[in-house]
Amino acid sequence: MPNQKNHKQALELPIFKIISQVATSLQIDAYVIGGFVRDYLLQQQVPVKDIDVVAIGDGIELANQVAKSLPLNTKVQIFKTYGTAMLLYNGIAIEFVGARKESYQTTSRNPEVKPGSLEDDQNRRDFTMNALALSLNTSNYGDLIDPFNGLKDLKSKRIITPLEPKITFSDDPLRMLRAIRFASQLQFKIDPICLDAINKNAERIKIITNERIVDELNKILASKKPSNGFKLLHHTGLLKLILPELTALEGIEEVEGQSHKDNFYHTLEVLDNMAATSDDLWLRWAALLHDIGKAPTKKFSKTNGWTFHGHEFKGSKMVYQLFKRLKMPLNDKVKFVQKIVLMSSRPIVIAEAVTDSAVRRLIFDAGEDLEALMLHCEADITTKNPRRFKKYRDNFALVRQKIKEVETRDHVRNFQPPISGELIMETFSLKPCREIGLIKDAIKEAILEGKIKNDFDEAYQFMLKKGKALRLKKT
Ligand code: CTP
Repeated sequence: MPNQKNHKQALELPIFKIISQVATSLQIDAYVIGGFVRDYLLQQQVPVKDIDVVAIGDGIELANQVAKSLPLNTKVQIFKTYGTAMLLYNGIAIEFVGARKESYQTTSRNPEVKPGSLEDDQNRRDFTMNALALSLNTSNYGDLIDPFNGLKDLKSKRIITPLEPKITFSDDPLRMLRAIRFASQLQFKIDPICLDAINKNAERIKIITNERIVDELNKILASKKPSNGFKLLHHTGLLKLILPELTALEGIEEVEGQSHKDNFYHTLEVLDNMAATSDDLWLRWAALLHDIGKAPTKKFSKTNGWTFHGHEFKGSKMVYQLFKRLKMPLNDKVKFVQKIVLMSSRPIVIAEAVTDSAVRRLIFDAGEDLEALMLHCEADITTKNPRRFKKYRDNFALVRQKIKEVETRDHVRNFQPPISGELIMETFSLKPCREIGLIKDAIKEAILEGKIKNDFDEAYQFMLKKGKALRLKKT
C-alpha cells in the first residue's frame, strides 16, 4: 500500500486536472473521496466505474462548469434533493457533491442537508476507509486528507465508522449491509463495536428499499467466499429480516437417534463451492436458494426417518415469491434459478442408475441449462467423507460421459419434433383437435424412452401406428 502523504500518481486521468482548474477558477476547494481513493490505496485492480468529488461549496455549479470544459455533448444530471450532480466521462460516472453536514430522520433515508467543511463531510461518511480524500487543489494536489486514520484501518483490514457506529448506522441503515458487503468483498474484519451496533440496529434495515438491499446481496454473492458475508448477515440478525427462508434452514433436529444435516450451513458450503467454480451471479443465487423448500417440507416418520419430499418443487415456487418480494427481475433470470432449484436432484437420482432414457430426459428437460445444472450438482457435494465424496464425483463424471454419448447419438438437446402438427393433420385429414397433441406427445415420449430413433422415418412409422390405435384413417 502506498505510504507517502502525496499521491499525485493516483490523479493522472486528465479529468482530475480539469476539475482542479475549474475549481481554482471558481475559487472553491475540491477533493476526490470514497471508493476511488480506497481502491487506489488498496491497489485493487478493479476497473474504475465511478469517482466521487466533494466540493467545499456548490457541487452542482462545479459539475456544470467542468462539463463546459469537456466535449460539447457532455450532459450533467442534477439531483436537486440530494444537491448532487453527475456527468459521464469516458464511461466513468463522476459524481459531484457539495460538502455537507447531514442529519437523518428516523423514518426515512432522506437526510436534511446543510453545507459544511471537508471534515464535516468526511465525518458523515460510512467508514473511515471511505472517508479518505485526495486533494485536487493546486496548493497540495494529490495530498491524502485522512483525519480519522482511514489509512491505518485499511492496512489493518478493519471496517470502522468515523462517528460512533450507532449514529452512522442509524443515520443510514444501508451501511450495516455495506459493512458486511465490504467485509466479504475485501476480506476485512468489522470492528466489534460496529458489529454490536449492527446487531442492535438490525431492525432499521426495514426502511431500506429492496433494490438497494439486493444490490448489496449481489455484491456479497459476487465475492470470493460469499459464506463470509452470509454468516455475518446471520449473526447480526439481518439475514432473518431479509431472507427468512434461509434462516429457517438452520439447525439439526434429532428424533429417535436420527438427525438430518444443518441445511443452512450446507447451503453456505454449496455457495462457496459454486463461487470457486463459476462467476455467474444467477448460479450463485441458485446455490443459495436450492434447499429453501426443505424447511416447509421437512417430516419425520418412523419408517423413512427425515424426508423433504417435493422440496425442489416447493423451493422453485418459493424462489419466484422471494424474487417478487425483493423486487428482483421476474424475467429469464428468475426462471433460470427456479429451473436449477426444481431440477437440482435430477442428476443425483440418475447418477444412481445411469440409463440412456433417464439421461435423454435430463438433456431434454434441462435444455441449454444442462451444464449449469451439472455444475450446481457438483457444487452440492459437501460430504466430509472422502470415500463418499469420490463416489459422488465419479458418479457425476459418469453422467457427464453418458450425456456426451447420448447427445452425439440422439441429438435431444433443443429437441425439434421430427413430425410436425401439420403433417399429422394432413396424414389423417384432421382439423385442429386433441388427437394431434396426443400423437405429438407419444412421438416425443417414444424418442425419449429410446423406443424409436430421433429421425423422420421412424417417427413417421410410429405416427401411423399411433393413428391406427386412435382409429384415425390415413388419407
Ligand atoms: N457513502 C456513505 N454511505 C452510504 C453510501 C455511500 O457514506 N450509504 C459514501 C462513502 O464515502 C462511499 C461514497 O459515499 O465511499 C461513495 O459511495 P458508493 O459509490 O456507493 O460506494 P463506494 O464506496 O464507491 O464503493 P462501491 O463502488 O464498491 O460500491
